Amino acid sequence: MGKARFYDRFLFVLLTATAFLVSGIASTETVDEILERIKYDIIDLDKNYSMKFHYVDFRNDGSDFLWKNMESEEDATEFTEDLFVDGKVSLILPFGFPFFDRNVTHVAVTTQGTIQSDEPSVNWTIAPLNAKFGMTRSNIYFLHEVNDIYIQWNNFRFDHVYFKEHDFSFQVRLSASGEIVFVYKKVPYHLKLLREICDCLENEFGVIYSYEEVRPAIEQIVELFFAYEAVPASSKTYELGYSTDFEKLEVRPGTLIRFSMADTCMFKNSCESCTETKFHLIPERPQQCHWCKKIQRCSSLRDGVRDEWYNKTCHHDPLVHPYFCNNINWSKNHKYVFIWILCIAILGAAFFCISILINLISNVPYGLVQVAFGCNNDQEEQADENRPNDGENDPTQIQDSGV
Ligand SMILES: *[C@@H]1O[C@H](CO)[C@@H](O)[C@H](O)[C@H]1NC(C)=O
Ligand SMILES: *[C@@H]1O[C@H](CO)[C@@H](O)[C@H](O)[C@H]1NC(C)=O
Ligand SMILES: *[C@@H]1O[C@H](CO)[C@@H](O)[C@H](O)[C@H]1NC(C)=O
Ligand SMILES: *[C@@H]1O[C@H](CO)[C@@H](O)[C@H](O)[C@H]1NC(C)=O
Repeated sequence: MGKARFYDRFLFVLLTATAFLVSGIASTETVDEILERIKYDIIDLDKNYSMKFHYVDFRNDGSDFLWKNMESEEDATEFTEDLFVDGKVSLILPFGFPFFDRNVTHVAVTTQGTIQSDEPSVNWTIAPLNAKFGMTRSNIYFLHEVNDIYIQWNNFRFDHVYFKEHDFSFQVRLSASGEIVFVYKKVPYHLKLLREICDCLENEFGVIYSYEEVRPAIEQIVELFFAYEAVPASSKTYELGYSTDFEKLEVRPGTLIRFSMADTCMFKNSCESCTETKFHLIPERPQQCHWCKKIQRCSSLRDGVRDEWYNKTCHHDPLVHPYFCNNINWSKNHKYVFIWILCIAILGAAFFCISILINLISNVPYGLVQVAFGCNNDQEEQADENRPNDGENDPTQIQDSGV
């Protein structure tokens, strides 16, 4: 772990530990009392810094203060069996849930223990368990409270000879702020073992988003004298979110996992929106998203865009302030202005030299010019002989010659 990354994490601990707790505190408990019950916690970010991850193991009933008891909640609704089609029920959220580049309003809740995109063209999954299709049954509840919605799976059982006895209970909270929290209430089996023996779980759980980015072709002035560079249309898939498996991470009753988005630089597609966006690594020191004119991309310089950023030498002249957005290739322009001034200076100097020469030619006594230029053809010699006589022309001579 690099120093910067450690620092990231360290700060994240401070930030999230309190936010996390305050958001779900039940009336009588103090933060200290809750902290007392935390036995173990992990803070992390995914490799491409798209999502923050905070795992807390409260052990047994320690996470009760975040658990909703759907039987006693008046507004809770259970999804009846007739609502399900292919193990999925569609749900319209009461608010737009910010999820990376999307404002999610329609989701599909599945019997596999996941929430998924309800649009076929978009591929994301929020999975506290992620069972294989057709292996499970459960009662699924939904509850809306102001800026949060809760989805809860109760009596969740696997259709497997060794693991059908006991049921699981777990819950996902989605907040209008974009936060996602998993709470596990009942986990009757060791999930690592279950996965090895039963083959009824997918490889990964967590938050998984295959973000497919399609970029149109761009053409822009890049060199002096209006040369164009064309960047062809392209598409690329980024794996965003934070996912892991039950071998790496132990999930048991009282486990809580919180996810939140790291920064949104890579989704900004104009220079202005990019350079106006800040994100926080350290609370009091906001960082700036950077814009690269050449590839028309925004990046935090640590996200999935960073390889392309360095490959295309964007780090040579990144834009970090909206002021420079309209001055096309501002720094390059500077270079061009210099070149233009140089050209004008050279032309000016040449013109000056020529005019001096012309001046010399017309003012210097003729002989000197002749010497200087080494003129010696016949005609000029003749002219030379004639010239001194010009002033002494007299009629007698003309007469003489005329005779
Ligand atoms: C998200 O969508 C909802 C519902 O369409 C809308 O009310 C809300 O303003 C949208 N939020 C953003 C940030 O676009
Ligand atoms: C969604 O993304 C996953 C990888 O995260 C991939 O395995 C799966 O095939 C994708 N599904 C669709 C429908 O594109
Ligand atoms: C991180 O981003 C790079 C591109 O910069 C990509 O190749 C890689 O697959 C990403 N890693 C994950 C885990 O998404
Ligand atoms: C960047 O360049 C390296 C090698 O120079 C290459 O392996 C990598 O695929 C390139 N990445 C992108 C996003 O072009």
